Amino acid sequence: MAILRVENLFKEFDGIKAVDGLSFEVESGSICGLVGPNGSGKTTVFNLICGYLKPDKGRINFRDREITNLSPDKNARLGLGRTFQNIRLFPQISVLDNVMLGFKYSKGERFFAALFQTKSMKEEEREKRAKAEEILRFVGLIDKRNKLAENLSHGQRKLLELARVLALDPKLFLLDEPFAGLFPETKRKMLDLMRKLKEKGRTILFVEHDMNSVMGVAEKVIVLNYGKKIAEGKPEEVKNNEKVISAYLGKRKV
Ligand SMILES: Nc1ncnc2c1ncn2[C@@H]1O[C@H](COP(=O)(O)OP(=O)(O)OP(=O)(O)O)[C@@H](O)[C@H]1O
Ligand SMILES: [Mg+2]
Repeated sequence: MAILRVENLFKEFDGIKAVDGLSFEVESGSICGLVGPNGSGKTTVFNLICGYLKPDKGRINFRDREITNLSPDKNARLGLGRTFQNIRLFPQISVLDNVMLGFKYSKGERFFAALFQTKSMKEEEREKRAKAEEILRFVGLIDKRNKLAENLSHGQRKLLELARVLALDPKLFLLDEPFAGLFPETKRKMLDLMRKLKEKGRTILFVEHDMNSVMGVAEKVIVLNYGKKIAEGKPEEVKNNEKVISAYLGKRKV
């Protein structure tokens, strides 16, 4: 069963076709990769799915419900969790508070709740703290909970981004280049976390520009070039596809 269905999506920026008639599905409970050279439209696809951008044409279905044109907040509440290619954390607050802020969009959280803090809300706050600590333990950052986010290494920040998304407890994780700039050890950690999430029944769609990095991770990859799908299938199959090879030839890797 598909958890996400993208149909005939188009998005143009000043004459540049960033996404050009794209359709694909993501199976529930799978790890799926969205791959393509730099500028092929991967991040734009994420922005369209999450509601940061509106498509010129096309339709997006999530959990059998049309979400085309819904706001990012609404999508988050429906179970879409997303990390950013350029890490977006609050640098001047603690690691723990960064995760706590992730709860802001989770079900039942009221924006002005803090203004009317009652005993039960304090209780709620304690529960959230315990949950945030559990998440930090899961990603391996519990020892860093009181550090300012700005004092973390790049790899630790990538893990904290994931932790922040975990606070939402999303059904579908959209991870934009989760391995970018990671040392092999942290990359293994990230991979391990993605597999554990899958074991817990979650679905992951991740963006990656390096073909080799999707081998052994994704069950299925969708390859984009100039906003169009040029191949889809198991990574081993797609890697040897002629269109994929030529799309990557002469393209600079970051
Ligand atoms: N907000 C925007 N305004 C104008 N052009 C944009 C905007 N966002 C993306 N583009 C253009 O759309 C195309 C696709 O960009 P996008 O960032 O989606 O690619 P990408 O596959 O994520 O690339 P990368 O691997 O470098 O992250 C590029 O030509 C880019 O310059
Ligand atoms: Mg991108």
